[in-house]
Amino acid sequence: MSERSFVMLKPDAVLRRLMGKVLTRFEEKGLKIAAAKMMEIPQDLAKEHYREHKEKPFFNDLISYITSGPVLAMVIEGDACISIIRKMVGATNPKEADLGTIRGDYALDMGRNIIHASDSSESAKREISLFFDDSEVCEYSLPDERLIYE
Ligand code: RTP
Ligand code: MG
Repeated sequence: MSERSFVMLKPDAVLRRLMGKVLTRFEEKGLKIAAAKMMEIPQDLAKEHYREHKEKPFFNDLISYITSGPVLAMVIEGDACISIIRKMVGATNPKEADLGTIRGDYALDMGRNIIHASDSSESAKREISLFFDDSEVCEYSLPDERLIYE
């Protein structure tokens, strides 16, 4: 069933000019980019987005990192895409992430792991509505959908 995930390229990905390479992976997989915007995340939004980690010792560093520069916020769509994208992203700690995953290939440090992706359908809905108005999410068909889906 088609799902939407919230995916964000973090400031290190933008500053390291990795946006194109990471986006290409999602496009080549057959997923659809339904929304994308560059933005600098306000502190309040960063804290709301990562509110589940509010009590964790790394929370302040995480908020500093995510607000340290521009991010590319996206909505990505496709069948079972929430779990597929998490697999493509790899383990939170890039040192443990398998090679072939985005973090495994492009990152080395937990606090510089270049990408965020929703971890459940509830998180995806919450995060998409935090970052995007409904009108910013495009609804369109890809011309090769019958080649991607059975
Ligand atoms: P994200 O939310 O950014 O997609 O990452 P995730 O689901 O793989 O990992 P999560 O547990 O949600 O952690 C959010 C971000 O916090 C930083 N972190 N640091 N020092 C630490 O122990 C630690 N644990 C997590 C990471 O930057 C992680 O992406
Ligand atoms: Mg997370």
